[in-house]
Amino acid sequence: MCGIVGYIGERDAVPVLIKGLEHLEYRGYDSAGVACLHRDSCDLTVVKEKGKLIKLRERLRGRILSSHIGIGHTRWATHGEPEKHNAHPHSDSANQIAIVHNGIIENYSQIKTELLNQGVPFRSQTDTEVAANLIGKYYQSGHLVEAFTKAVARLEGFFAFVVIAKDEPDKLLVFKRSNPLVIGLGKGENFVASDVSALLPYTRQAVFMEDDEYAIIRKDRVEIYSLKTRRPVKRRPITIEWDISQAAKSGYPHFMLKEIYEQPEVVRNILKSRIHRGKIVFDSLDKKVERRLKNIERVHFVSCGTAYHAGLVGNYMLEECVRLPVNAAVSSEFRYEDPIVDDKDLVILITQSGETADTLAALREAKKKKALTLAIVNVVGSTIAREADAVIYTHAGPEIGVASTKAYLAQLTVIALFSIYLRQIHRGRKGISAGKMKSLLSQLVRLPAQIERALKQEEIITNCAKHLFRKQTFLYLGRGYNFPNALEGALKLKEITYSHAHGYPAGEMKHGPIALIDKNQPVICICPKASATYDKMLSNIEEIRARKGILICIGTERDKHLTKLAKYIFLVPDTAAMLSPILTAIPLQMFAYKVAVLKKRDVDQPRNLAKSVTVE
Ligand code: G6P
Repeated sequence: MCGIVGYIGERDAVPVLIKGLEHLEYRGYDSAGVACLHRDSCDLTVVKEKGKLIKLRERLRGRILSSHIGIGHTRWATHGEPEKHNAHPHSDSANQIAIVHNGIIENYSQIKTELLNQGVPFRSQTDTEVAANLIGKYYQSGHLVEAFTKAVARLEGFFAFVVIAKDEPDKLLVFKRSNPLVIGLGKGENFVASDVSALLPYTRQAVFMEDDEYAIIRKDRVEIYSLKTRRPVKRRPITIEWDISQAAKSGYPHFMLKEIYEQPEVVRNILKSRIHRGKIVFDSLDKKVERRLKNIERVHFVSCGTAYHAGLVGNYMLEECVRLPVNAAVSSEFRYEDPIVDDKDLVILITQSGETADTLAALREAKKKKALTLAIVNVVGSTIAREADAVIYTHAGPEIGVASTKAYLAQLTVIALFSIYLRQIHRGRKGISAGKMKSLLSQLVRLPAQIERALKQEEIITNCAKHLFRKQTFLYLGRGYNFPNALEGALKLKEITYSHAHGYPAGEMKHGPIALIDKNQPVICICPKASATYDKMLSNIEEIRARKGILICIGTERDKHLTKLAKYIFLVPDTAAMLSPILTAIPLQMFAYKVAVLKKRDVDQPRNLAKSVTVE
């Protein structure tokens, strides 16, 4: 969590920093701040404000901060309340340096005590100020690198830092351990940020830092070093393919709605590059990986939040396609449970950001146990993408809305393709027939147009939301492939509307949730016709009707019977059961969005959440 940026060059630094922070605000929005050095006098100015970036922008209005170098931060509080004095950047007590930080310094309290005993004053409750004062303690003018590396060597935990010093206005000093940091290369100017979206307005050339590396960034030169050896590290820049319009709202009132509407294109792109002449190809999986995949005996999906729900769907998909035992786990559980995993296991990490702390730790645990690790990731060059044995990118473009939508659909599509691909290379083992594979492929190709059709239900969903948005609790039910979507629908609603919502496997309804049902209780039932448990869902629906629950059904176009039973119905096109969650997710996302708008919630930046959870 937290977004950090840095700039050095000829432009005015502050507007560049603010623009960068706009792209990073999804990482946290409790407070924001910038620090810069005056172009002529090199005086250090720090401006920060509690609340969202807009507050900082108001604070800066009318102020001229002529500067060629600066750092910026948008915060998601860990140590210390979201107050102005805890906002970053932090400077040392002598105001010689300023620092922005993303992460947690685990031994901060011990170092703080040591510094307090030496008479160093503190102005905040943050762990970051400890780093600032430690660097300050070691600092002698002209020797920032020495002071910085000495201080960092004493810190334990996970962090990314950007530092400036008023006596050394020619450089930004940056460091990365676990938390992401990417350097943007310009002409006569350079940038650094937590993620590439902040660089896109200026450059597509990016260098990703690895753990325990620091870099000295000057306007015309970037040098990367290993903290351990102090030797220079050579790294080739990567060209980022995303374009800037993908990271803007393009006329939509919210990123979330824009991202919902991007889904046909996202799925189209995934399919275009992965299906060739009736076969599935993943260019990123080389012969060595393919050989190992052929001998895999068990699969684990490991992920968090929405990506966990994609893993649950993946569980059903892979078991159907290749008849291997599959387990879907939450990363924070997997990493600590001493998982039973060895070199015959495939561990698939699903993550939009590629930076989620628990998923990264789970990946390292799986690697330690010699499993083959495969990352399904959206953000190119992210830590998990780089550390896994193999990676499949979802190429969904930047997802800004905190509530994940297009990344989820992209994950489901990639997992569906991967399940069929595994069956392709697993010939001779059990699994779906060649005919079934062919049929799935032809249904996959139809999905983008079908998603477009599903999106046409927006008005119907708005009407339903208008009737129900004041309800306090919602129950979501599904079975089989659509049970994870019941969880995902409930999660979307919770995240952005703050209403209580509960997802349940419909067959479990009689073991508890049925007690909730009366004439005031909305129950959302996901009931596509192709599902093997369609009739069972119908029985559950009758049970809800008998108790006068408010029935909202998500079903298949032309399902007259279901239409008669439901009070509100959202219809999606017909497809195979295995692919149905890709379509039924659409009305669930749209319903949550509409309720949030009617409740006047902050759709793209819901309270207490952050898009990228880089702390445990
Ligand atoms: C946060 C986000 C969710 C996301 C989850 C996992 O909770 O708000 O939208 O699903 O993290 O993130 P990842 O980047 O690993 O997919």
